Amino acid sequence: SGSVNLAVIPGDGIGQEVTTEALKVLEVAAPAGMHVAQTSYDLGAERYLATGEVLPDTVLSEIRGHDAILLGAVGGKPNDPNLPPGILERGLLLRLRFELDHYVNLRPSRIFPGVTSPLSREILGDDEVDFVVVREGTEGPYTGNGGALRVGTPAEVATEVSVNTAYGVERVLRDAFARAERRPRKKLTLVHKTNVLVHAGAVWWRLTQEVAAEHPDVTVDYMHIDAAMIHMTTNPQRFDVIVTDNLFGDIITDLAGAISGGIGLAASGNINPDRTAPSMFEPVHGSAPDIAGQQVADPTAAILSVSLLLDHLGHAEAASVVEQAVMADLAERGTTTRRTSEVGDAIAKRVAG
Ligand code: NAD
Ligand code: IPM
Ligand code: MN
Repeated sequence: SGSVNLAVIPGDGIGQEVTTEALKVLEVAAPAGMHVAQTSYDLGAERYLATGEVLPDTVLSEIRGHDAILLGAVGGKPNDPNLPPGILERGLLLRLRFELDHYVNLRPSRIFPGVTSPLSREILGDDEVDFVVVREGTEGPYTGNGGALRVGTPAEVATEVSVNTAYGVERVLRDAFARAERRPRKKLTLVHKTNVLVHAGAVWWRLTQEVAAEHPDVTVDYMHIDAAMIHMTTNPQRFDVIVTDNLFGDIITDLAGAISGGIGLAASGNINPDRTAPSMFEPVHGSAPDIAGQQVADPTAAILSVSLLLDHLGHAEAASVVEQAVMADLAERGTTTRRTSEVGDAIAKRVAG
C-alpha cells in the first residue's frame, strides 16, 4: 500500500535512544506492502557544537519534501557554555514547528489500564481519564517577539510579547472543535487567563463563542489556567478536549504526562492540518541529560508518537495495532525495570504478533 518518506531527527540525549525503539516498532507496524523510506538528519547539539549549524536552509527544504517527521528530542547538557540557551530549542524545534506551520500541537493523555498514576484511587474513581490537549503551536509567547534593553544593568528590561492573531487562534479552535465533535463526550474546555491577559484573552474568548455557534453539539466551558491545574490534579476525568495557547499548553501537558503515569508515556503530534507541509511526531519530553546514554529512558512516548504518525498518514489500523501493543505492554509491565531497548523489543514483538 504505497510508500512513506520519513525524515528522522533523533536529536540529543535520550532522543536518540527512544527514536531507535520507535523505528523498531514502525518497521514491524507498517502495513504489508508499505515501504518506509527513512532519511536520518544529524541535527542537534553535536552538530551545532562541531559546525555551528542548527538547521541549515537546505536541510529544512529537504525535510519539507518528506511525508512526515519523527523527532526524538533536542537540547544539550544544561549550562554548557558553548550552547547558548534556546539555540537548539528555538533554532531547530520551534523553527520546524513554525516553518512547517504545525499550528495544532496535539497531546493526548490517558491513564492506561495497569499504569500507576500519582493520583490516588479516591481521586481517580471509576471514570476514565482520557483527554487531549490541543495546544496552539505557532504563536503566543513563542514567536520570539521580544527583546532586552540595557542588558546587565540594574535598569535592564526584558520582554517576551505574546502574539495572538485572529487567524491563528481561529484555526486552532476550529481544529479543536472538530476533534471534540468526533469524540463521544463532545466537550471542549478553553483554558486561558482572560482575567489578566485581557487582550489575548478577548480574542480567544470571542472566537471560541463564534466557532462554538457552528458546533451546537459541543459542550463548551472555560477555565483559567491556574484553576485548570487544580482540576487536572483533583478531577482530571472532567476533561475531554482542552484548547489553549502555546505556553499554557506546554505546561499543562507536562502535568498531564505526570498524572497519566509519567512523562515517558506522553506522545505528541505537531500537526499541519492543511497538509501544506509534513507533520512532526515526537515525545512530549526532552533530551533528559540526567539519564541520557544509560538505556533507562522509557521509549513508550516515542512509540506512541509512531502510532499518531501512522494515524495521520491514514494508516488507522496500523496505528491502532501499535497502541494496542503499548497498552498490552503497560498492562503487564508493573514495576519491572527494563532497559530502553528491552521495552522496544517487547512492544515490537507484540506488534509483529
Ligand atoms: P526533560 O523532559 O528532558 O526531563 C525532565 C525529567 O523527566 C528528567 O528527570 C528526565 O530524566 C525525565 N524523563 C524525561 N523523559 C523521560 C523518559 N522517556 N523516561 C524516563 N524519564 C524521563 O526536560 P528538561 O530536563 O527540562 O529538559 C532537558 C532538555 O531537553 C532541555 O535542553 C530542554 O530544552 C529540552 N527539551 C526538548 C524537548 C523536545 O525536543 N521536544 C522537550 C522538552 C525539553
Ligand atoms: C515541548 C518542549 C518545547 C516547547 C521546548 C523545548 C521548545 O518543552 O515540546 O514541550 O516548549 O514546546
Ligand atoms: Mn514542554
